[in-house]
Amino acid sequence: KSQPPLVWHWIPFLGSAPAYGRDPIAFFRECREKYGNVFTFILLGRRVTVTLGPQGNDFVLGGKHTQLAAEPVYGPLTTPIFGKDVVYDCPNEKLMEQKKFVKVSLTIDKFRAYVGMIDDEVKDYLNTDASFKVYQMDDINEWGTFPVLKSFAEMTILTASRTLQGREIRESLTKDYAQVYSDLDHGFTPLHWMIPGLPLPSYRRRDAAHTKMSSFYQSILRKRRENPTENQEDDVMNSLMKQRYRDGKQLPDHEIAHILIALLMAGQHTSSSSLAWAVLHVAARADIQEALYKEQVQHFGTPDGGLRDFGYDEIRDLNILDAVVRETLRLHPPIHSIMRKANVDIPVPVTLGTPSEDSVFVVPKGDIVLASPLISQVDPGVWDNSESWEPTRWYDEKGVAAKANKEYNEGEKVDFGFGLVSKGTVSPYLPFGAGRHRCIGEQFAYLQISTVISSLVRRMEFRYEGTFPAPDYSSMMVQPVPCQIHYRRRKF
Ligand code: HEM
Repeated sequence: KSQPPLVWHWIPFLGSAPAYGRDPIAFFRECREKYGNVFTFILLGRRVTVTLGPQGNDFVLGGKHTQLAAEPVYGPLTTPIFGKDVVYDCPNEKLMEQKKFVKVSLTIDKFRAYVGMIDDEVKDYLNTDASFKVYQMDDINEWGTFPVLKSFAEMTILTASRTLQGREIRESLTKDYAQVYSDLDHGFTPLHWMIPGLPLPSYRRRDAAHTKMSSFYQSILRKRRENPTENQEDDVMNSLMKQRYRDGKQLPDHEIAHILIALLMAGQHTSSSSLAWAVLHVAARADIQEALYKEQVQHFGTPDGGLRDFGYDEIRDLNILDAVVRETLRLHPPIHSIMRKANVDIPVPVTLGTPSEDSVFVVPKGDIVLASPLISQVDPGVWDNSESWEPTRWYDEKGVAAKANKEYNEGEKVDFGFGLVSKGTVSPYLPFGAGRHRCIGEQFAYLQISTVISSLVRRMEFRYEGTFPAPDYSSMMVQPVPCQIHYRRRKF
């Protein structure tokens, strides 16, 4: 049986790294035209076999972990940042247990408390951050601008810390922690992934920041253990302190610390880039912005023309908002490449739609396999006007924002109204992945993104001027290139 076709390249070791690094989506599409849905390219000396389309997503995401492992691919990037003995620095079975422990803190009960906290954080941010000076002037006629990447990164870390990370972390955000976080974050780049150890300052700062952050979390843990009655917070740390592995052992402090760092990093760029794209599109589409505002008025309007606070159950009823989030994650899923390493030779099913249907390719042991749900999320064969951001595609046939999100958010029945297969790993819509590595932060992220957008659209109008920002693929997550949004305070 033959191996998948190899993408042609000029320079042996470098391979297709420049094309993949510059614009992975354009690169995958070009290769698909030439070679079909399965092909191999060289990335800095490594063989990467790409399997595209819903079946390709299934091949990678639904693979057995004994055959397709995530740890050897992601570990070199994440272990220096998260730390020892968690996530990809431990056997997969242990990661599965750790994910289960975290899920205990991500329940609807907890989410009910989080909505108000997130809204408060956004309110405080708007009232204090220098980019929102015009908002603070209380003048509804004046327009200001805010920098998209910085503002949403800050709102994301503030809201995640207040809710998931715990009081001590939230209180430290304005002090040393911000610098430590930033040093750690600068170690989360394609360079640090491809070449994990280099004698460069960014690597040294990354390692020093990890040590500091890990010690900081562990000192909080010790304090909490010493004064259990004083620290009854409903956060992830307290919840992890109560958990036990199947063998009856408690999580050691360093593992709790490292899981918390992992959650912080996993949720930061994913949520902040999704927020950035969502608000950019809302700013560029007056009709959708108006619909979102009207939805707020309809649900939360008060007799004096103002808007009252909202809760978790209420926010889940906002269907236009849901369509905005869902459509943003379709067009801009932050993770463009999901990878595993083949531990054995693996045949690729013919149904992947390669040009010669009768050939069964074999991915050789040692290859990295890669799925890109983004490709199927913008496939014109699946979606009308696949490249346009169009939340109304999620409305029902009567043009009303549909209710499918209820089931979707609960992770039970999934029905996108198109008859697409969307439960399990065979789907053209998988912004949160699927299978055993599926995201556990999905519902939290949905809540966080929806609440921040609600908090913003009810207080401000937005406008985006000029050419819509292009995606920047140079960092680990697909975020917009640096840009500004215009805003104006609403009357109430
Ligand atoms: C895994 C996307 C937010 C924690 C994943 C995966 C995707 C994803 C695609 C699968 C990766 C793979 O299969 O290799 C997203 C998106 C988010 C988001 C689009 C926001 C819009 C979050 C948040 C948290 C989180 C807020 C934490 C609170 C995790 C964890 C995993 C994961 C722990 C599991 C990794 C594994 O099992 O290998 N996420 N995520 N994510 N995500 Fe998220």
